[in-house]
Amino acid sequence: MSRETSRIPRFYQRSRSERASLLAERAGLDDEARRHLKSGGGLDPDVADAMSENVIGSFGIPLGIALNFLVDGCDVLVPMATEEPSVVAAASNAAKMVRESGGFFGDADPSIMIGQIQLDDVADANDAPAKIARVSDALIGIGNEAIPGMVARGGGVRRIETRVIDAPTGLVVIHAHIDVGDAMGANTVDTVAEAIAGPIREVLGGKVGLRILSNLATGRLVRVRAEVTAEAIGTAALCDGIARASRFAELDPYRAVTHNKGFMNGLDAVALALGQDFRAIEAGAHAFAAVGRDLQSTGYRPLARWKRTKTGLEGSAELPLAVGLVGGSARCHAGVRANLALVGAKTARELAIVLVSAGLASNLAALRALAGEGIQKGHMRLHRRKEEMLGAAEEVSR
Ligand code: MEV
Repeated sequence: MSRETSRIPRFYQRSRSERASLLAERAGLDDEARRHLKSGGGLDPDVADAMSENVIGSFGIPLGIALNFLVDGCDVLVPMATEEPSVVAAASNAAKMVRESGGFFGDADPSIMIGQIQLDDVADANDAPAKIARVSDALIGIGNEAIPGMVARGGGVRRIETRVIDAPTGLVVIHAHIDVGDAMGANTVDTVAEAIAGPIREVLGGKVGLRILSNLATGRLVRVRAEVTAEAIGTAALCDGIARASRFAELDPYRAVTHNKGFMNGLDAVALALGQDFRAIEAGAHAFAAVGRDLQSTGYRPLARWKRTKTGLEGSAELPLAVGLVGGSARCHAGVRANLALVGAKTARELAIVLVSAGLASNLAALRALAGEGIQKGHMRLHRRKEEMLGAAEEVSR
């Protein structure tokens, strides 16, 4: 990731074109990415036409850059696509506070995705785990033959697991655990699931049902932690308020959902800017909040938590995250390529840590505002700015 600092004082006071040039210099972008940023972004209509169906245009969302992020010792420029005012500024502010204590630190599991193969009407369903264990090496071989490119890049099927969901009706589900490397992995996983379904049926009998990935990627968890001092937050009382807010979310699902919404404000905005499947990310994040890593959780929980320390606060977040550097819209969308180049992550795991850092920053900023002056003051200032700008635009168009 970038060695240039992500601190750019008075960035917001520069013109859009100056901001684009500055970023291009800092990140050493190639000509295509520079042209794209300088042109104000967007999507080539022919590319849009090829990406979806019945296309009549493309749909704009503001793209901003969150500054001040230090992630695992590297400065990172964080592109965020969001229509919600104050998300980018709030994440930048929180990242600045965290930076003073060394920044965000993360670790990510290998990129293991789960493919599910459903079988119904399996006779002696309780014997299925032992039967499948006997042929698991052969199934791994068949699965890997279906994805030679992924295997050549170091990925592939790692393990086969059998889950008896409902023995009386013979509902058995086989999980193929597949390392998808630097891809999000949906196509790879679905290919394997379809390739091994027939051989599984030969062993177990019954009727094959679905063959599809699970968006609850519990083998692909990402963890990020950060510290922040009371001086950076403002006061010890504000730190207490943030810790109390976090505890509130831990104990009350009504609050946990809103807490997680604020966390996802940051994470989703980066995901969208980087062309990631944000629906898959959202589905996985909230399922994880509800069931936990071992499916044993007893209620919906916050994805990020803040605890009081002697000097301030310590925050941590954990969730499954299926993001990729290769494939997906990066292949055709010049804006996605430019934004990925700005971040400069070398692996999907590095990228995932940046996304979760943005989530933790957004969560900290929201809790700090809520525990202090309330959310409306800052929000309304930016809202007024938008209204003034729209008023001026109406004047011009009259
Ligand atoms: C608004 O988009 C997000 C917040 O509601 C998050 C939260 O309450 O923590 C401010």
